Amino acid sequence: MELHTLEGQQIGRYKLLAWLGEGAHVHAYLTRSTETGEYRVLKLLKSNLTRNESALARFYDEARAALDLDHPNVVKLFSYDREGDLLYLVEEFCEGGSLLDRFKAHPGAQPLDFILRTLEDIAQALDYAHQRGIVHGDLKPENILYDREGKAALSDLGVTKYADEAEARSREGLLFGNPNYMSPEEWQGKSVDARTDIYALGIILFEMLTGELPFEPTQTSSVMFVHLLHLVAQPRSLLQLRPDLPPALEAVIHKAIEKDPERRYQSASELAAAFKAALLGNPSDPSKGETVMSANSPFGATAERAQTQATSAPEVIVVNRSLSPVLLAAFLAALLGLLYLWWRAQQGAEVEEETYTPL
Ligand SMILES: Nc1ncnc2c1ncn2[C@@H]1O[C@H](COP(=O)(O)OP(=O)(O)OP(=O)(O)O)[C@@H](O)[C@H]1O
Ligand SMILES: [Mg+2]
Repeated sequence: MELHTLEGQQIGRYKLLAWLGEGAHVHAYLTRSTETGEYRVLKLLKSNLTRNESALARFYDEARAALDLDHPNVVKLFSYDREGDLLYLVEEFCEGGSLLDRFKAHPGAQPLDFILRTLEDIAQALDYAHQRGIVHGDLKPENILYDREGKAALSDLGVTKYADEAEARSREGLLFGNPNYMSPEEWQGKSVDARTDIYALGIILFEMLTGELPFEPTQTSSVMFVHLLHLVAQPRSLLQLRPDLPPALEAVIHKAIEKDPERRYQSASELAAAFKAALLGNPSDPSKGETVMSANSPFGATAERAQTQATSAPEVIVVNRSLSPVLLAAFLAALLGLLYLWWRAQQGAEVEEETYTPL
């Protein structure tokens, strides 16, 4: 059965309204419950696990565990079920779309307040998962979803391993995990822990700040080449692409994407706190709990918004310095001078026009 052409059909009590896309393991549909009228996303498993008893048991075990996850920054899984050979999951519909959708709609660097909010939301979701021993393992812009108000939530937490991985890997054109966000240890097939998610989050931060990837594959790069970049190459310089950013941000990003997991931030909230401190202008000791925004920080507005939105990060004191009167007077004098010069130039042009006599 073609799983991406089921629009209009009904599965269980869900009417499939629109195909949203597919990943390595599932086809996602926007649906509406015929009983409650609520919009939900229904994810149809591609692999037919129903004939493989142990795989089916694993699916049920993992689905049951995922049902228990309950956090405002984790996309809520409501139920799972089976219709004939089809297995499916029903989850919260995130109306704001994915971070990937956002990159497509607004290419290039994203606004700093948007980046900070996404980071803080996703860091909380990751801490929540990691404290329960759950590693996402496939963190990428497609799996960061937004609600109508712009709150970010982590998608597919605890469900990426449902399908038979071997089958997913061999499926033509679809790789398990997106190579651009995969940590060196993941590439090497080593066992992964929470720090593989920190690595992916670091790559996503670089991408949000610059619109580009720290290990940029060329159009013709093979997957193996991207693999090598993540294993041995140094990331591109953030500051070369964004010289306007506080230099301390470069060190934060590079620490998040260190090749050795031991040298990375050890938790997502640690990364979020360091990022915020660097952005506000005092990267020296983000754990001290007091961050004073330097007077010449170009991110005054962002810093203030960050201050009001802060929840998990250390207490931040933002010193809001108004423009000094001397600077204001100098600025006005310069403006008047420029206006006068422009007026003189206009006068000169008019005189020239008046005195022009054709031969
Ligand atoms: N809960 C949701 N609310 C709104 N859109 C969603 C939701 N879940 C998925 N989508 C959309 O459907 C697309 C396909 O989702 P799916 O999870 O199958 O694949 P993916 O995220 O691209 O890859 P992966 O299988 O690795 O998670 C996503 O890229 C996203 O745009
Ligand atoms: Mg997904």
